[in-house]
Amino acid sequence: MRNGIPDTVALDETNGALVIIDQTALPGELKLLSLTTLEEMIDAIKALKVRGAPAIGAAAAIGLYLAVKAAGMDKFADIKAAFAASRPTAVNLFWALGRMERAALENPDGPIEALRLEALAIRDEDIAACRAIGEHGLTLLDGVEGVLTHCNAGRLAAVRYGTALAPVYAGLERGRRFKVYAGETRPLLQGARLTAYELCAAGADVTLICDSMAADVMRRGRVQAVIVGSDRIAANGDVCNKIGTSGLAVLAKHYGVPFYVCAPSSTIDPKAASGADIPIEERDGGEVTDMWYAERMAPPGVKVYNPAFDVTPGGLVSAIVTERGVVRPPYSF
Ligand code: MRU
Repeated sequence: MRNGIPDTVALDETNGALVIIDQTALPGELKLLSLTTLEEMIDAIKALKVRGAPAIGAAAAIGLYLAVKAAGMDKFADIKAAFAASRPTAVNLFWALGRMERAALENPDGPIEALRLEALAIRDEDIAACRAIGEHGLTLLDGVEGVLTHCNAGRLAAVRYGTALAPVYAGLERGRRFKVYAGETRPLLQGARLTAYELCAAGADVTLICDSMAADVMRRGRVQAVIVGSDRIAANGDVCNKIGTSGLAVLAKHYGVPFYVCAPSSTIDPKAASGADIPIEERDGGEVTDMWYAERMAPPGVKVYNPAFDVTPGGLVSAIVTERGVVRPPYSF
């Protein structure tokens, strides 16, 4: 529990359930879902009831353990494949599934218990990694008053502490109250619904802006840093993150604002040589034309392009912060 909000992802051993905060119900209702079937868990990831790269990885690890425990080890490959097909971009999902598979293979005499322990280790390591990211990230913010963030890379995107918002939380713990500008993040409004919610709950100073207002905020000198998370970082430092991130990086370069990326090392994918190798999820056009509106806001039949992520060239990234420390360009992972 942090700031009155329980962990985003948890294992309920008594009831054999993956417990998540239903992020589609926020900010209206803080609702916990207890998921016990494979179908419920996969649906939760696809529908973004649980979302954010580290949280997806932890949820899939716990879900894989529970589903294999219920169905038996001979169903392992099918269950793993079902999780792997749930969302394509956040590499933390595939990293977690790979770790789980290795744990089972290395413990043929007790694979189910090995899966349980590995899922709990992934959960615990995420909490520790995010705390460390907060400490390292805070060292970049000396003299900074205002920061701009995008999407939600806070505690709701990880198990308990968050990535891009971790330095903000680390600062709050020391009495530093950054002025955080949160881009609303069309089309799914993770910034408006989730970042604004969790920062308000934490007593942080948060101001919500439409995505189109970022240039104005930078031109007026209201922010001295942009901090975002990532779903996958390529070997050359190209950063894939929520759609709209790369535009912010271009603006930040123009206005001379440092652009920082905070992510656990599990978000680095050395197999992706550059951003071109990162699969970008495309989602339903209804998220753009209908969702959140009282009535449809675009003519029937209009074509919609709805990529959920974009790639920021590593050359626009001032520093990448992981639990291991701060890395600056040229990047080579
Ligand atoms: O589609 P989402 O909401 O899962 O996308 C999340 C993001 O893009 C986050 O910025 C990213 O996962 C970093 S979260 C620590």
